[in-house]
Amino acid sequence: MKRLVDQFNFKNKTVLVRTDYNVPIQASQVQNDMRIRASLGVIRALIMAGARKIILVSHLGRPAGQGFEVELSLAPIAERLGQLLEQSVGWVADWQELMPEQLPPERIVLFENLRFWPGEANNDEAFARQLVASTGAEVFVQDGFAVAHRQSATTEAITKLLPSYASDNFVREYITVGGFLQTAQRPLVAIVGGAKISDKIDFLTKLAGEVDYLIIGGAMANVFLAEAGFDVGCSLVENNQAPAVQAVYRAWTGAGKSLDRLILPSDVLVVRDLQATEAVAKPLGQLTATEIIGDIGPETIAKITTLIQQAGAVLWNGNLGYSENPSLAGGSIAVITALIKNHTPALIGGGDTVGFVDNFTTKNQTSPRGAVYSELFLSTGGGASLELLAYGELPGAKGLLNL
Ligand code: 3PG
Repeated sequence: MKRLVDQFNFKNKTVLVRTDYNVPIQASQVQNDMRIRASLGVIRALIMAGARKIILVSHLGRPAGQGFEVELSLAPIAERLGQLLEQSVGWVADWQELMPEQLPPERIVLFENLRFWPGEANNDEAFARQLVASTGAEVFVQDGFAVAHRQSATTEAITKLLPSYASDNFVREYITVGGFLQTAQRPLVAIVGGAKISDKIDFLTKLAGEVDYLIIGGAMANVFLAEAGFDVGCSLVENNQAPAVQAVYRAWTGAGKSLDRLILPSDVLVVRDLQATEAVAKPLGQLTATEIIGDIGPETIAKITTLIQQAGAVLWNGNLGYSENPSLAGGSIAVITALIKNHTPALIGGGDTVGFVDNFTTKNQTSPRGAVYSELFLSTGGGASLELLAYGELPGAKGLLNL
């Protein structure tokens, strides 16, 4: 793999860098900084290569595009980034009227959430031109793998205005995720959770032709369970998804696979509300009308653990329970623990899942990026990894000269 800094002479150049700082923030506190840490590589490489100014841009959340929304400001990220880099990061709240000579004096500058303006999401070339004019950027670097499935001003339009390159992390992630289904050892076990089947339907149908076992958990499993006739009490069930469930079954049997390899929870942990500190294990079929499924149960955990032991590789996207609540994180903890214990090569994606794994391994004083867990590849991308796995390409990668 050729390094970014060998592609272009960054010395004394102003570089516009698109990162993905779409990270969980509560009360101005960053809850998981993995995506911020992931961007340090490109920032440091550009500093080493002598870049004069590094302007970082990103989106956060899904604002209406009508201006400032305090809870979606990137300001807390500038602070966190400054701590990680051990240098002050310049901050610009409103860059639209700015000229390059008015930029803050710091070498590294972060702009406010691009989605506060409609031009970003609309892939508006005029908006991209304004970014170039305000920064004086001479070259563009795409570091936001996690946003490369979106057609937006800083994934597409900008690449028509400036020489544009992918960062080393972007290239590595693009190759690893894009090649995973071809290179993974078999049997390949996919574990798919999260809230919504509608977000993952193309991915799930694609997986049917590729994996040997498909385990479905999280609130997404409730749709399958309800379709199978089980009473799921008050659990979250996405509406009108019967056709999606049928499509997954059709794809699975159409690929000649036995239905006993498409695994749904056989028992669950139930609670009265998702903040409850205690949960009760129940077999399916025994839920009362007021109970909520919060996680998979011990029997299902045992089944999944055995499959991980036997797996050649695992693809995991989406938590298995409401893991924000530690009492309902047992299923997801069992998966990461089994992967680590068995040294199973795994591709882990999905913002919540990667944040969960990162927090879990950090808390246990181990890093998934460390030598011991080199088998785990944490993708910064949620939807981007799913799309790359399902379609083999991403719109945000097309205009980059080194891909
Ligand atoms: C993500 O977190 O998946 C990316 O940042 C993309 O965010 P989006 O789904 O709001 O476009």
